[in-house]
Amino acid sequence: MKLWSGRFTKETDKLTEDFNASIAIDSRMFRQDIQGSIAHASMLARQGIITPAERDLIVSGLEEIKVELEAGQLEFTVEAEDVHMNIETLLTLKIGGLGKKLHTARSRNDQVALDVRLYLRDEITEIRGLLLTLEEALLKLAHEHLETIMPGYTHMQKAQPITLAHHLMAYFEMFRRDVGRLDDCQKRLLSMPLGSGALAATGFPLDREFVREQLDFNEITRNSLDGVSDRDFAIEFCSFASLMMMHLSRFSEELILWSTAEFSFLDFDDGFSTGSSIMPQKKNPDIAELVRGKTGRVYGDLLTLLTLMKSLPLAYNKDMQEDKEALFDAVDTVKKCLLVFTPMLLTSKFNKNQMSESARGSFTNATDLADYLVLKGLPFRDAHEVVGKTVLYCIDNQQALEEMSLEQLQQFSNLIEDDVYKCLDIRECVARRKIPGGPAPEAVRKALEEAGEWMEGMTDGTYK
Ligand code: ARG
Repeated sequence: MKLWSGRFTKETDKLTEDFNASIAIDSRMFRQDIQGSIAHASMLARQGIITPAERDLIVSGLEEIKVELEAGQLEFTVEAEDVHMNIETLLTLKIGGLGKKLHTARSRNDQVALDVRLYLRDEITEIRGLLLTLEEALLKLAHEHLETIMPGYTHMQKAQPITLAHHLMAYFEMFRRDVGRLDDCQKRLLSMPLGSGALAATGFPLDREFVREQLDFNEITRNSLDGVSDRDFAIEFCSFASLMMMHLSRFSEELILWSTAEFSFLDFDDGFSTGSSIMPQKKNPDIAELVRGKTGRVYGDLLTLLTLMKSLPLAYNKDMQEDKEALFDAVDTVKKCLLVFTPMLLTSKFNKNQMSESARGSFTNATDLADYLVLKGLPFRDAHEVVGKTVLYCIDNQQALEEMSLEQLQQFSNLIEDDVYKCLDIRECVARRKIPGGPAPEAVRKALEEAGEWMEGMTDGTYK
């Protein structure tokens, strides 16, 4: 029998039952559902709505159900529709008619709004930890590669020399912003909706502040209609997730390129690569490719939620039951990707020689020659023109700038002197870019210090 069967004269059609049920998806929130119910029952007793003895029976019944569910001793049914009614049904089976008092002054609408928040709060904490582990890995690698020269690119064309540390720290910055977005999402998520009822709160004298404290939320929701129909937090999480995956996919794409024979900047560890079923020689970067690919499905999850909520009238509508599949998928995907990406990165071998050799080619020191002329008094635009002509000459003669003789160089500008070779040295090119934000080892060392301090602030327990 349905928990809401009173006004019905007919059994639910089996098709309706299957279509309407969400237990296959929302069963994963059973712990949060029980946690919320325990807080609710405790508050009902405090307010004299149920007796302390009734509360004790309800609470111990719920705790037993949790243990039995964790041990796989209980089963959910589609007939009971969702996780909320399944647990209420199990409670009533366990403790008898008293179980039917639990739902006093509560609706599944505020119950589900609470459960999803509780669930996401825990997941956010876990994902934050995974993100910080990735940040730590980036710091470690950057420390190791402060002096590893590599070409920096624009338009996928070699542009100016940088260091691998600097390149890695660019990703550190992206993920740092992601941590910020995650914390911001968490802040707004910690608003406690119970007491909103179905839509119009309740006439019972609930102590919402007590429930908030029990569940360790920051505040209570301020409007019952919004309390049951707000899913901004899920959308905010998915936008965090989308941006984070976009960063991971850019990183993946670069690692994949770098692992090609053409680049040969890095080797993925065998443990984080896969083979081909037909080509015996192959070692493929499937992990990085899958992370790149899964980015698309997380964008899909965000779009699902945005579209789901678009134009929904206040307050609760059943459409909103569809929020969980997308949200859970984003949570699962982000976790899986972070979990495998960090060890894949840490076990990769960077080919330092190949990187610095590559940085030497393609006139990556041309800007430095122009800057050299500027220091000798030539306006930058004129210096640009002079060096452009010099490069053209070098291309025709298959020479690098630093391979030209002083006489050759002086044909292009009589400002050029013997000190030009120091200027053209690739390490010097990097070392002089030492202003804050620059790639010089000196600057990146400072950036690493600051990043290390930030990391400490993130993990010292001040975060909630
Ligand atoms: N399973 C529902 C959901 O996830 C719970 C709320 C249902 N409320 C209702 N009145 N139909 O949204």
